[in-house]
Amino acid sequence: MGATSVHRVASWNGVKMKRSTNLPDDMQVIADLLRKSISYNKFNENVIQSAKTLEDSLSMFITNADGDLSSNELLNQTKEIIVMSENPIRTFHMMHKIRKYDDATFIHSLNVAILCNMFGHWINMPQDDLDVLTLAGLLHDVGKMKIPEEIIKKPGILTEEEYTEIKNHPRRGYNLLKPMKLDERIKKVALMHHERCDGSGYPDGLRGDQIDEFAKIVAIADVYDALTSARVYRGALCPFEVINMVVEQDGDKRFDPKYLHPFLEGVVKSFIGCEVVLSDGEKGTIVAMHADELARPSVCVSGKVLDLREMSDVTIQMML
Ligand SMILES: [Fe+2]
Repeated sequence: MGATSVHRVASWNGVKMKRSTNLPDDMQVIADLLRKSISYNKFNENVIQSAKTLEDSLSMFITNADGDLSSNELLNQTKEIIVMSENPIRTFHMMHKIRKYDDATFIHSLNVAILCNMFGHWINMPQDDLDVLTLAGLLHDVGKMKIPEEIIKKPGILTEEEYTEIKNHPRRGYNLLKPMKLDERIKKVALMHHERCDGSGYPDGLRGDQIDEFAKIVAIADVYDALTSARVYRGALCPFEVINMVVEQDGDKRFDPKYLHPFLEGVVKSFIGCEVVLSDGEKGTIVAMHADELARPSVCVSGKVLDLREMSDVTIQMML
């Protein structure tokens, strides 16, 4: 792999980008109209306000040696955002629409924390563990805050040196959290969230059981959020496209199936009842999921239920 190939693909943990997805104009209009809806804007305003407060606390946390007190504050603020909506599934759906606000490291970390919290609920995790996992999701990328912003936000291809710098963020994060009074799993998540079960990850190329269990969960939430968010070098991918990619591209080898499957099932279940646009231009509502083909649920279009498993040429192109 030459220097020019040292690009963002690798930074998303081996899940390869197929293409940039800029939405067709008419779909963009529909998406923009939805972003103007009252319920979306209310949610958007609340989250942006809370996110700003949380971001300040996160900055203080990093500069404050007393990790124990500050981490409680961080966790409580994160939980406030999570319970802001009466319906957590609605929150999850709304989260997908908030991408326009800011996809910087902080918002990504907040999204990962929310995803981890939801996942913990989906698998009935005890409350104490759930709190640790949520905080681990929020802090997993703290090491990135020590990397120059011009590298993090660089729109073009990264040089070898810049990519090496980015790949250092797990160690930087671990070193930052190490002296703090935090659950050890949170520190391990910062260090190991880019490790992969097949040994293809970094920084240490760990495999299977060598990787902390919470780091395996955060790894899945991290990749899912990264792919469904817009980046300076590509548009956001539709969640169903992401599920397809993760499953197709040996997801079961890179990620622990005991977490990957319930995660993807939870994601698909949370979209039941949501409106979508299909690749043939039809609009419909997701009415059922199928565990054998998660990216191909049944969709009701004009009163008729279509099982996408039987329509190999039609995919879900966009969530409304
Ligand atoms: Fe990371």
